[in-house]
Amino acid sequence: MLQESRSRQPERASAIPFAIWEKGGTTEHLGGIYATERLLAMCHLGPGQTVLVLGCGTGYTACHLAQHVQAHVVAVDISPRSVAEARKRVAGAGLGERVVVIQGDAHRLAAPDCAYDTLIAESVLAFCNADTVATEAWRVLRPGSVLGINELTLLKPPPAELLALLRGTLGLWPFQEQEWRAILTDAGFVDVVTDVRPVSLREQFVSHIRVDGVRKYLSAVVGGVSDAGIRRAFFTRDMLRAARQFRPYVGYGLYAGQKAR
Ligand SMILES: C[S@@+](CC[C@H](N)C(=O)[O-])C[C@H]1O[C@@H](n2cnc3c(N)ncnc32)[C@H](O)[C@@H]1O
Repeated sequence: MLQESRSRQPERASAIPFAIWEKGGTTEHLGGIYATERLLAMCHLGPGQTVLVLGCGTGYTACHLAQHVQAHVVAVDISPRSVAEARKRVAGAGLGERVVVIQGDAHRLAAPDCAYDTLIAESVLAFCNADTVATEAWRVLRPGSVLGINELTLLKPPPAELLALLRGTLGLWPFQEQEWRAILTDAGFVDVVTDVRPVSLREQFVSHIRVDGVRKYLSAVVGGVSDAGIRRAFFTRDMLRAARQFRPYVGYGLYAGQKAR
């Protein structure tokens, strides 16, 4: 039976948490490029595979897959701005023949059943109805293929105030490790493996610099800070206090599960 918090997940994303990065054309998920590398290793990717990158953001992982794994990639995002940024990154890297970027909703993919060899979603399901998206992922994957996700993971039972902040202000619906695991197994995935860690601010920062360079990273930060909507949501006294108080609760988890043959 679905736990109460899972049964109430909405199907909408708040634009606020990723607007800052989308504006600057950088990429954002917890663990950064280091988590991406570990997640891709957990998915046993191989050259020539057809990979769906869900909630692709500005397209970093889609390009990485095409460049370093020689995969054929379809990258999907619901946000027109992310789609435009991802297309810019793909064109800039000369990867137009191997990466297609399309606008779409993870809850209702315009793809036939069993179309993909691997599906990657980094920091996406927590903004969606995770159960619906996991079921949709199972539908579009071929038997024997793998879903790999990186999602904000609560490291211990959260206080109500933290949940209210994450859900209400940030539009994020995070879970603890066993709940994320259950979301995958309830959707039909088997042999689920997990790697849950606390957030490292140093890793996060160094990842940004490695991927985007200092100039692009700083311009994303400045662009975000000068946006009144982002300032109102992020830089309040309550948010800064909550960031300090709730840090021990917040980590991220890599989860990979197979669609049985
Ligand atoms: C935190 S960002 C992560 C972006 C990217 N995966 C990365 O790691 O840089 C979340 C992304 O999910 C996208 N997203 C949210 N809800 C979605 C949905 N229902 N369908 C497709 N994309 C969605 C957002 O537009 C955003 O680009």
